[in-house]
This record gives sequence, C-alpha cells and structure tokens, in this order.
Amino acid sequence: MKGRNKKTSDSGKESAGVAAAGLVEDGMIIGLGTGSTTAYAISEVGKRINEEELDVQAVVTSYQSEMLAIDAGIPLTSLSEHPELDLDIDGADQVDFELNAIKGGGAAHTKEKVVACSSKQFIAVIDESKLSDKLNHSVPVEVLPYSRNLVLQNMQNMGAEPEIRQAVHKDGPVITDNGNLIIDADFDVIENPNNLASELSAIPGIVEHGIFTGMIDEIYMGKKDGTFDKF
Ligand code: 5RP
Repeated sequence: MKGRNKKTSDSGKESAGVAAAGLVEDGMIIGLGTGSTTAYAISEVGKRINEEELDVQAVVTSYQSEMLAIDAGIPLTSLSEHPELDLDIDGADQVDFELNAIKGGGAAHTKEKVVACSSKQFIAVIDESKLSDKLNHSVPVEVLPYSRNLVLQNMQNMGAEPEIRQAVHKDGPVITDNGNLIIDADFDVIENPNNLASELSAIPGIVEHGIFTGMIDEIYMGKKDGTFDKF
C-alpha cells in the first residue's frame, strides 16, 4: 500500500493526540476515531474524565477504539442515542493544505466518515509525515466482497492500481468491522479529490472510500519536539 512506509514520529502523534483531547469539555458527546494517533487522544480524554470528573460520553468508530475507550474509562454511547456529536477527533493517512484527507489505513473509514459528518467539529490529529502538498497516498475503499471484481475492474479503467488488502499476520484478506474487504487503490497524484470522490461513490458495491473532503475543521499536527501546529 503506497504511502504507508514513511517514518512516523510517535512523539508527534502523542503531542497531536494529547493537544486535541484538551478540546473536550464537560457535557460533550464526542466521536473517537481509530489509529495510533487517536489512541493518544483516547488515553488523554480518559485521564481528564477521571481527574476532572468530566461528564463526557463517546461514540466509537471501530472495535479497536471501543476497546481503548473502555480501558481508558470513557463512557460509551451511540449515534442512535446521540445523532449529533459536539466534537470528533480522528487521525488521517495523508492531508493537504486545503484540509482534504485520505483515511482508512486502519480499515475503519466508513464509520469514521459517518461519525465525522455527525459532528459539529472534526479535528484531525496527525504527525508531520502525513502532510503533503498534494494527495498521492493510495485510497482505501471498503467494498462488499460480492462486488470486488466489478470494483477492481472499474478502478483499473480509471487508471488506478488496485489491490485487495491482505492481513499481515495471517493468510487472507483484511475483513473490516462491517464484514467487508478493503481495496487500496493507487491513483498517483490526486489533482482533484472531489472529482475522484464522486467517481468512486458512483461505483456499485463500494460501501465507502477514504477520501474526506470538506469535513475537517482543523488539523492538529504534532512535531517530534513535542510541540504542535494547528491550521
Ligand atoms: C483508520 C484511519 C486512521 O486514522 C489512519 O490510518 C491514521 O492512523 P495512525 O494515526 O495510526 O497513523 O483512518 O481507518
């Protein structure tokens, strides 16, 4: 999968995650994304709930974030009970300066997009390795297993190099929390993320793609020295 081999800085991830957790206020219903950067935010939110006795509930985006939130002592709720969230904190695989993003490295982007679009404020937490002038990371796409060949063919016709994501520690494909496959599609440099997002959404059998446009309100970018920038 293109773009995943870059050296990442855990101290950058930690400073971004911890800083974003500082936005959580008493009484908020929050969304919690998935991934190693969000994990720092989850841990810090749990710490703040405990130390400051905050009344906060969270909607999670994956089994991974559910387990982390439970471990951190964060009370959970659902979109059924709270269709509108106050704040969503989530990571990204790549972002550009126009706040477009590619997500789905953790195969959780379908629920992540639903939660982001259900929130009044969406904060993306990244380290410096994720920022790029133009998006060129492969695009994770969740597909119904039944439709995989149709989707692969459509993507090849669009000029992409698509691959079904394989599980790292066992033979076979990655299966998402929703029981689907992930196709990682390399479109090289994505000149117009909105156009590509529309084209992908039109392919039958695609559950959701990992292009996020017009959704991020602010990016917290952690740096190796422990500081962070926001933009
Ligand atoms: C999961 C995601 C993650 O937020 C994204 O992959 C970034 O993860 P990390 O913070 O571990 O680099 O989109 O579907």
